[in-house]
Amino acid sequence: MSDDQTRFSKAYAIGQKPWDSGVPSVELVRVLDAGNLPGKTLLEFGCGTGTNALELHRRGYTVTAVDFVAQAVEEARAKAQAAHAKIDFRVGDATRDDFGGPYDVLFDRGVYHHIRTVDLKGFLKVLERSTRKGSRWLSLAANAKEKHDPGPPTVSEPELRAELEPLFEILDLREFRFGTNIDDFRPLAWSILMQRK
Ligand SMILES: C[S@@+](CC[C@H](N)C(=O)[O-])C[C@H]1O[C@@H](n2cnc3c(N)ncnc32)[C@H](O)[C@@H]1O
Repeated sequence: MSDDQTRFSKAYAIGQKPWDSGVPSVELVRVLDAGNLPGKTLLEFGCGTGTNALELHRRGYTVTAVDFVAQAVEEARAKAQAAHAKIDFRVGDATRDDFGGPYDVLFDRGVYHHIRTVDLKGFLKVLERSTRKGSRWLSLAANAKEKHDPGPPTVSEPELRAELEPLFEILDLREFRFGTNIDDFRPLAWSILMQRK
């Protein structure tokens, strides 16, 4: 197990996971309502305990959702079972595993902003493999205009453009605030809507 995986596994084991708000991301819901994630098949990276995967399933997508923490995936599977939702939850590493596809839509909340500091090259290969020309990706990432310690790692606009634009056209880039399970902790974030070139 990598150091990174150990760190996240520990966070789930002790329940220190401020990102796990228990409600679907308001920004994801906004983008879905606007009809900006067309398609049927969807892959979510770093799904955590599956709250957004469940919302995406409810909206009619065939959802594959991966996280490299087994406990998170077990919790997600239990939630899906309780909701009678058929979602393909997998334990896997978004920097190196093969998740099939190509998918119509990719989604991540708070994953790209972290993975880019660990193995951006590996993640970009996985992104390339799991999409085709025209696939959409909505990435929700913490914004470097506000730093938090403790808090999520952040990315600036020039950084995200340099890293993502070789593979994706950015269709919409806007700011919003993440919801968390801590009162008044709402880190500034980027909503990055992209289309594979
Ligand atoms: C900030 S949390 C967000 C979880 C979930 N997206 C949410 O919004 O509740 C980041 C998640 O990404 C997962 N993760 C980090 N690196 C990963 C990797 N290389 N492969 C798969 N999952 C990863 C972590 O285990 C964690 O569940």
